This record gives sequence, C-alpha cells and structure tokens, in this order.
Amino acid sequence: MSGGNHKVMTAWGFLAVRLPEKDAEWMGYRVSILKALGVLDKEGQPTGRLDVVKAADMARLTEESFNAERNAMVTTCKECHSETYVTKSLENSDQMIKASDDIFAEAIELVAKLYQDKILESTTNEATFPYPDLLTFYEVDSHIEELLYEMFMDFRMKTYQASFHLMPDYTTWYGLAKMKETLVEMKDLDKQLRM
Ligand code: HEC
Repeated sequence: MSGGNHKVMTAWGFLAVRLPEKDAEWMGYRVSILKALGVLDKEGQPTGRLDVVKAADMARLTEESFNAERNAMVTTCKECHSETYVTKSLENSDQMIKASDDIFAEAIELVAKLYQDKILESTTNEATFPYPDLLTFYEVDSHIEELLYEMFMDFRMKTYQASFHLMPDYTTWYGLAKMKETLVEMKDLDKQLRM
C-alpha cells in the first residue's frame, strides 16, 4: 500500500492462476486447476465461469496485465532494495506456487479419477465432469474431497501468500509441508476407497 494507496491488487491475485503460461510443465498443472475451478471444461475449453472471473478481474489473463502489477510491486520494493534482489525474491515466491500446483494438480486428478471410476459420486456439473468443483467449497460428501478443499483454501494459499510476505517458516511448515502430507493421506484414502 505504497503512498497510502489502498488498492488491493497483486500480479497473482487471490487464486494464484494466470494466463498465458510460458512454463509448459506448470501449464500442465494449471490446466487441472482451471478445470477444477470450472473455468475450463473437461476438453480444456473456456466455460461461462471464465467470463465471471474476467468481469470480476479475479485473475490476470494477459501477460501485460500480470507484468503491470509485478512491475508496480518491484517499483515499491526498489525504494529500499536493489532491483535484482527483489526480482529474485519475487521469482522465488513464484516457484513456491509452482511447487504447490504440482501437488495440487495431482490431488485434483486423484479425485477426478475417483468420480470417473464411479467410486465416489460426483456432484459437479456435466461440462466439467469428472473434475471436482472447487467452488462448492466445503459442501462436499467425503473426507478425501474435504482434504482437496483444505489444500485449495488453506495450504496452497499459505504456501504462496506467506512466501510473498517473506515468512519462510510459515510457507514451509504451514503450507508446502501440509500440501505434501495431505497428498499422502489422500493417496492412502484413494487406496482404501478402491478396495
Ligand atoms: C520501506 C523499506 C522496504 C521496502 C519498501 C521493502 N523492504 Fe524488504 N526489507 C526492508 C528491511 C529494512 C529489511 C530487513 C529486515 C530485517 O532484517 O529485520 C528487509 C528485508 C527483506 C528481505 C529479507 C527477509 C529475510 O527474512 O531475510 C527480503 C527478501 C525483502 N526484504 C524483499 C522485499 C520485497 C520483495 C519487497 C517488495 C514487495 C520489499 N522487500 C520491500 C525494507 C524494505
């Protein structure tokens, strides 16, 4: 809030998704996440929900809009630090998003496969089946879906938000470690459900 400006806007936004994505591996994870957010259908085509996200400016959907917010942040940081130092710091935090997206995408695909194989009953809509709908939040029927929601709203948020706020302890132990722990638990539940 440089200069007392209370505009609350960051490059990554609240959901930490952006388009386009130059990193192909990361884009792979992003596609799973966007499907689970219901903005892409199962074929990877945009849904009506993408228009809502666009209208509310919930995510940066062009490279220019991402860079504009990122550059504004760097300008603020440069009041006290060198440009190289802060650019590197912000890029490190970007990589924390990628690390959590890797785990999150695997968890999403795990639940999608359970719907696909009719082990769990899917309550999501036709267009995005078999993907879970993250925007149903905690209105879910099983523990494994609850864990996915917790990853989304709690652990993934902590991983990157704490990283951008320069809290290494929080980003690690309350964020990424919890992501990993939860994935292990979900894989275990997946095995039990399939037995
Ligand atoms: C008003 C001056 C100021 C601004 C603006 C500022 N910093 Fe800092 N920053 C500091 C000071 C002072 C410290 C050292 C704090 C300490 O050691 O206790 C610091 C520490 C850091 C550290 C080291 C943290 C650690 O745990 O060792 C990083 C990384 C950092 N800042 C990045 C940034 C980034 C990125 C931004 C912009 C989002 C930013 N800073 C904006 C003054 C500033």
